[in-house]
Amino acid sequence: LIDVAVVGVSGFTGLELLKILSSHPEFNIRYMGASRAYKSITDIHPSLSGVIKGEVRASDVKEIALVSKLVFLALPHKSSMEFVKDLLELGVKVVDLSADYRLKASSYEKHYCTHIDKKNLKNSIYGLPELFRDEIKEARLVANPGCYPTATILALLPFLPYLDDSYPVMVDAKSGVSGAGKKCSDSTHYVSINENCFSYSPLTHRHAPEIKEKLGIDNLTFVPHLLPTTRGMLVSCYLLLKEDIDVESVLNNRYRDELFVRVFKEPVDIKSSGGTNFCDLFVKSSGRTLFVSSSIDNLLRGASSQAVVNANLMSGFSEDLGIPKLTYRP
Ligand SMILES: NC(=O)c1ccc[n+]([C@@H]2O[C@H](COP(=O)([O-])OP(=O)(O)OC[C@H]3O[C@@H](n4cnc5c(N)ncnc54)[C@H](OP(=O)(O)O)[C@@H]3O)[C@@H](O)[C@H]2O)c1
Repeated sequence: LIDVAVVGVSGFTGLELLKILSSHPEFNIRYMGASRAYKSITDIHPSLSGVIKGEVRASDVKEIALVSKLVFLALPHKSSMEFVKDLLELGVKVVDLSADYRLKASSYEKHYCTHIDKKNLKNSIYGLPELFRDEIKEARLVANPGCYPTATILALLPFLPYLDDSYPVMVDAKSGVSGAGKKCSDSTHYVSINENCFSYSPLTHRHAPEIKEKLGIDNLTFVPHLLPTTRGMLVSCYLLLKEDIDVESVLNNRYRDELFVRVFKEPVDIKSSGGTNFCDLFVKSSGRTLFVSSSIDNLLRGASSQAVVNANLMSGFSEDLGIPKLTYRP
């Protein structure tokens, strides 16, 4: 067994990490941390009664390093980088769910804030197994991808060689409200989102630079929307191909050997990938016009289950060890 820590257990992705790790055959939850201490994890998450026991500590790097070999940081950006440097120095491997180690320094500082740990930022590995599996296996610091980038990159990746980049790639993305974390705001208030749907941060959302940087393209238009659901993400991409190609074969061939990408013959939906680490894909073309759509569970493939997949790879385990595959359907 490998002893692990989860920091940020009081948040949405922290809860999902605990749920996955509680039945993982090789990872043992040794440390649970939040911004303050609680006598019991069930004080924060009563739904874990009978599943996980233990106190929650006010997160402390030295305590974490004393008892664990690997830590999941389920923290807001800026908070994560305050932990990472010391954790790495004390020999603890890190999977960071925030944006702190995903982007080049210049891009990070443009879209987020000043970066205080540029040395480790340079050496972090972007935790999308379909792109960087071999590097993740050797990594000590993995930057777990954002939810929109995960769904969008996996949809677009196979078609990059065929893209006519004189036309923009249009990305229309939709997410359940849990994507915004547990803090309520005007737009995530029940009265605002119930039976409603709207775009937010059109053309300016922080995930656009992440998608562009990892795909190596610049001509991309990204508009996210909020859906009146708790979880789930559906991304619709439209682009122009250089020539008419067999798009289904391209998609199937790219992901033939991938455990957590499924290609469907009919349009995908958010319920079928909900509760799992799968990214579900559908593609259709008409001449040179391509439509490719992906669906993921934002809290799982978009965050916590992908983080555990990365930890599996970093620990030499099989990629799918303890990873959820059964959907929430019906
Ligand atoms: N939600 C998603 O779908 C999603 C998807 C991909 C990536 N992410 C990223 O994952 C990270 C976590 O997201 P989330 O949705 O779980 O956010 P969240 O629900 O707001 O939870 C964040 C947690 O971090 C804790 N925290 C903040 N500062 C801390 C500190 N210094 N020490 C210990 N704990 C601290 C907070 O705990 P207290 O309550 O104790 O203050 C809070 O519970 C974010 O960076 C987010 O961008 C989220």
